[in-house]
Amino acid sequence: MRKPASADESRAGQPLPHESAHLHVSGRALYCDDIPLPANTLHAAFGLSRIAHGRIRKLDLTDVYASPGVIGVAVASDIPGENNYGAVINDDPIFADALIEYAGQPLFAVAAISYQAARKAAARAKIDCEELPPILDIRSALAAQSFVLPTQRLVRGEPQQKLERASHRLQGTMVVGGQDHFYLEGQIAIALAQEDGAMLIHCSTQHPTEVQHIVAHALGRRAHDINVQCRRMGGGFGGKESQPALIAAAAAVLAHKTGRPIKLRIDRDADMLMTGKRHDFLADYDVGFDGSGRIEALTVMLASRCGYSADLSGPVNDRAVCHVDNAYFLEHVEIVSHRCKTNTVSNTAFRGFGGPQGMLVIEQVLDDIARKLGLDPLAVRHRNLYGITERNTTPYGQVVEDNILPALFDELAGSASYEQRRREVAEWNRSHESTKRGIALTPVKFGISFNATLYNQAGALLHIYTDGTVLLNHGGTEMGQGLHTKVAQVVATELSLPLSAIRITGTDTWKVPNTSATAASSGSDLNGKAAQAAAQTIRERLVQWACQTDNVTPDAVRFDNGTVHIGTRSVAFAEFVRQAHAARIQLSATGFYRTPKIHWDRTRFQGRPFFYFAYGAAVSEVSIDTFTGETRLLRVDILHDVGRSLNPAVDLGQIEGGFLQGTGWLTTEELWWDPRGELKTHAPSTYKIPSVSDWPAEAHISLFAGENREETIYRSKAVGEPPLMLGISVLHAIRDAIASCGSGQNISLAAPATAEAVLRAVDKARKEQSS
Ligand code: MTE
Ligand code: MOS
Repeated sequence: MRKPASADESRAGQPLPHESAHLHVSGRALYCDDIPLPANTLHAAFGLSRIAHGRIRKLDLTDVYASPGVIGVAVASDIPGENNYGAVINDDPIFADALIEYAGQPLFAVAAISYQAARKAAARAKIDCEELPPILDIRSALAAQSFVLPTQRLVRGEPQQKLERASHRLQGTMVVGGQDHFYLEGQIAIALAQEDGAMLIHCSTQHPTEVQHIVAHALGRRAHDINVQCRRMGGGFGGKESQPALIAAAAAVLAHKTGRPIKLRIDRDADMLMTGKRHDFLADYDVGFDGSGRIEALTVMLASRCGYSADLSGPVNDRAVCHVDNAYFLEHVEIVSHRCKTNTVSNTAFRGFGGPQGMLVIEQVLDDIARKLGLDPLAVRHRNLYGITERNTTPYGQVVEDNILPALFDELAGSASYEQRRREVAEWNRSHESTKRGIALTPVKFGISFNATLYNQAGALLHIYTDGTVLLNHGGTEMGQGLHTKVAQVVATELSLPLSAIRITGTDTWKVPNTSATAASSGSDLNGKAAQAAAQTIRERLVQWACQTDNVTPDAVRFDNGTVHIGTRSVAFAEFVRQAHAARIQLSATGFYRTPKIHWDRTRFQGRPFFYFAYGAAVSEVSIDTFTGETRLLRVDILHDVGRSLNPAVDLGQIEGGFLQGTGWLTTEELWWDPRGELKTHAPSTYKIPSVSDWPAEAHISLFAGENREETIYRSKAVGEPPLMLGISVLHAIRDAIASCGSGQNISLAAPATAEAVLRAVDKARKEQSS
């Protein structure tokens, strides 16, 4: 596929293929691992702890040094600067020096002439430790009051009083597991010393600026000494927000120590053992409701397993708290949020960033209510939706201003024939014993913006060369989500140029500084606007100059599909900028954007943390085999809101991928630690992500027609994370199928709903029925 040669085909809104699709599919896209290296480059590997908690008595690396091909080894004391890669709090050592806090924690790194030599050497360390009892799970951490951060509490109204007075009341527990990112490209960094103390780092990272700072601190250098570049990642999903700093810092320390370039690419097993994952959560809830299923009061004790350090657990858990409401009005509510410290890997960002876990709580609460009252869960969900003009303030004080959910619900329920299929499912279940079916519609309302206001800014740098070609660099990173495609379309739209005239280069901390992580789905919102600002600055300069040369007013100058019209005269864009350059008009500009309207008081849990909300809903229908517990997704219908789409093809890809990733999290992806705290599911042989064959035979995916009421880039909405939460409909369809095996009440199903979990839940439902 060639890049479109006309400006009209290149505009924002066109369903263009990913800018690198032709490179991805032909193997010509350069990832970090493909970068040609200097001949003297060394390859590195980490030495990891096997125990979850303990004190190091002696780290004997004699055999590591003696191993063939080894050139250098780095331990904590080899770090010239700070032994820390923690982004928010300095509690993440690059190499543990005295205390071991999880199985898989890096203790040292070794550099050798080959990757194999480094791995073999790393395995030869003799580690003498005094083992300490580990805290591994959330309940044990709660019992021990073991927290990485202080407990937070959000209250509105009088939840306790209203609970006591409610006509109906029930209690329950929601349990959901974590998730490994399973990006296809693992963590990798290359450290190349430059002249005069500078260092170039190639790194697969969503957050080049953070890698820059952490490497600088580790080496005892300053920010301007370190240049971090990332052309693309083979997937990030949040796993390359804070984790790459560890890999890059270790590579940089080894490069510093050995005086040679270092490539540090960890294998899948090490990646899964060492790096943080989605937080698993548990929630105890108590809900009061009326006879129609409307919630009157809700209290939730939310607790997550943060692992041994804070990492991003503060903001992840805050986002969980801010999404317990999901799409529903909670007048009297209390949410207590415990951030549990355990001797496991430090959990981190993962698509949705705590939001999905928060939403699962309320979805289960509503499902419980429906089953208790013998109502269709859809009716109960509908009854609790935010209102349009009233009942529309979130527990954290933000008004839901553009609530399209009631309309979206009705449209989807109609197009998916929900009512009819609900009857067909019931009929199937009456006439079939061994396979049972279930159907569920669940909504998503996801807040867009980083909760921490400061991150909601972006910069861009745009050059026009004298042959009319454009080069753009911006602070966002490309991880497959199509950000560069969208931002290029913005520039194409602003300058009315074809995409073939625009090149986006890799993210580079020496070009655009002080960038935020590409995260919180806000990449195109922020960088699209920054790039637009840069393009507009140059365009205005050119218009001003043309007005002078031709003595016309600005509205007589038009950029149109590679041609510039000035009054009655027309000139090709390339010739126009060549002349502008000859007239000494600056053809380079920066652009900057900061999100308006947002503010957040973290201590009071009040404010407007989100510029707007993205909405969506999905109907999933499943079939479960009650002998094996196997689940099949038969059909999915999705209606998702991306505002006015920047690129419907890319957006559909995000929706499909997000939905399936969410489904994997809630059905097959099970992380399992042994009683000593060693993760045993650290490879695709034991950890099951969805594959192509898990895509349902029937899928109807549509974009909701509408535009963002806020002034985002061309009125689009962010799409990166929200669709993941559409996968909740699959879990609830499974619950629905299980309900049909028994009385329909008290479904005990934790997520992930693996075959074993489904089988257990079916057995329980059947026993309950027969007893
Ligand atoms: N899509 C692909 N293909 N690969 C990824 O790694 N990451 C997701 C989402 N979609 C991801 C993806 C996550 S976690 C986020 S926050 C957004 O993309 C980030 O990109 P955006 O802000 O440009 O949407
Ligand atoms: Mo996404 S979890 O915000 O990187």
